Amino acid sequence: MKNAYSRIAGTGRGLPEKILTNQDLEKMVETSDEWIRSRTGIERRHIAADHETNLDFCEQAARNAMQAAGVGPGDIDLVIVGTTTPDQVFPNMGCLLQRRLGIHGCTAFSLEAACTGFIYALDIADKYIRTGSAKCALIVGGETLSRMTDWSDRGTCVLFGDGAGAVVLEAAEQPGIISTHLHADGKYADLLYFPSGVSKGFDDLKSGKDFIRMSGNEVFKVAVTKLGEIVTETLQANNMTADKLDWLIPHQANLRIIEATARKLKLPMERVILTVQDHGNTSTASVPMALDVAVRDGRVQRGQTLLLEAFGGGFTWGSALIRY
Ligand code: ACO
Repeated sequence: MKNAYSRIAGTGRGLPEKILTNQDLEKMVETSDEWIRSRTGIERRHIAADHETNLDFCEQAARNAMQAAGVGPGDIDLVIVGTTTPDQVFPNMGCLLQRRLGIHGCTAFSLEAACTGFIYALDIADKYIRTGSAKCALIVGGETLSRMTDWSDRGTCVLFGDGAGAVVLEAAEQPGIISTHLHADGKYADLLYFPSGVSKGFDDLKSGKDFIRMSGNEVFKVAVTKLGEIVTETLQANNMTADKLDWLIPHQANLRIIEATARKLKLPMERVILTVQDHGNTSTASVPMALDVAVRDGRVQRGQTLLLEAFGGGFTWGSALIRY
């Protein structure tokens, strides 16, 4: 039979060793462990050391995913890295990762869709495989948000962390990736953004104001609405009900946003994979890292049905229904 589908063959993650706890943050800004926990669910986050970069975590995550999948550099024929914090503007992170891993000649690129980047990359890789353009894709979501965080702003610095997650996606006779759903609406661009870039300039960087800007309350409201819509859209597209889901693996931005999505699905929190307490919001790394945590601790088993979702700057939002 023709391999008309794609399936996840292996998962991996890469995290900085350094951990910053809420208690550490209490010494840096006027905040409290109680405030951070009750508003976000976050207890600690991993932060890159000065000598580490996003590529280090992407490499670690990719190596772990390739080992789990039992594939080597010669098997990979597509590399996609989702990120908003690339090591450099070019070569793209896909090429930089190729070099680290000894992968030669295949398509390699990075894409930028903020916290939804991994779901966007998964959607693209699935389509490459379904159309026969690739057989074995390495997909990574990696970030070092700590490098664009204002560590004197208590409204944002308590939220973010660094790390990378990866999957190897390979051609399969049965779906794996059952469906993917992507959306974006640029009208929300001013609610969550990083103000500078190569073309626009880095003037703010010189004045020390070049950091993530966020209207937290507004982001919260739109995130809850759009994530509620997309999980409904995903179930309806597949003519299924939430009780058929084994696990919800949500973007790990804020426990209260995750709880709202679970409520919308009438799914008990016991069926939701949570890593926000340990990782904080790692943007596009959050979903593949949460998946990897749950695969490696044995909660996610082969044959189970997973709903992945994410929401981020742009705004972008997306979901994937998966038979693991
Ligand atoms: N510690 C103590 N107090 C704080 C802190 C802090 N770290 N941060 C803000 N406060 C204060 C505010 O100054 C404010 O004080 P005031 O009432 O005297 O003015 C008060 O707490 C309430 O502030 P709000 O911003 O209204 O708090 P809210 O309950 O909305 O929580 C939060 C803020 C956690 C940012 C929330 O809005 C949120 O999670 N929004 C979603 C944003 C998000 O997740 N962004 C990530 C990227 S997008 C994504 O991944 C979904």
